[in-house]
Amino acid sequence: LGLKKRNGSSKGTFIDDTLAGKTRLNIDHHEDLKKQIRMINLQKQDLVVLASLKPFVQEKIHTIVEQFYRNLEHESSLMSIIETNSSVDRLKKTLLAHIQEMFDGKIDDDFIDKRLKIAHIHFKIGLEPKWYMCAFQDLLLSLIAIINEKIQTKEESLKAIESVTKILSLEQQLVLD
Ligand code: HEM
Repeated sequence: LGLKKRNGSSKGTFIDDTLAGKTRLNIDHHEDLKKQIRMINLQKQDLVVLASLKPFVQEKIHTIVEQFYRNLEHESSLMSIIETNSSVDRLKKTLLAHIQEMFDGKIDDDFIDKRLKIAHIHFKIGLEPKWYMCAFQDLLLSLIAIINEKIQTKEESLKAIESVTKILSLEQQLVLD
């Protein structure tokens, strides 16, 4: 993997516009969410960018997840919450699937319902928003490191980072609502 030349552009781009058909932005029944998506300027092209990043994320998913749980060790109450309600092994699997799904480029009823369910689970286990936000920041830093490693030009990196911050913001909006 690397910077593949597509679209005949001289510098090439990681963005694969042929993935557009696989992306979906379908939130017709959610009035507030439509506004939220407009306010963070999340567009269909961002979903194409995310889907194009997916192979890089998949390649590094184990590193991301390991880092995520190592980071939680800073706060022992978080490890207790995990051991009481689940297990690190189980959560690693869920998180691994969840992060990869963020790069499917699909925002629809299924996406929203899943996030509301995750919000409910985290509320029930007493996870405070500040720790949740810290975990998100860690995830963002891991993703930026991947972009920095895999994408060569400043312009392309910026596009990738913009789309990643948009989807992470939306995740947080849904889960902390
Ligand atoms: C459950 C994602 C932060 C503890 C889950 C699930 C997902 C998820 C996808 C599974 C929901 C399901 O079963 O349908 C995330 C994301 C986070 C985050 C994206 C932040 C970026 C945290 C943190 C903790 C935590 C900081 C620390 C205590 C748990 C626990 C469960 C859970 C204990 C229950 C799992 C079970 O039922 O076995 N989370 N999580 N999560 N999460 Fe998180």
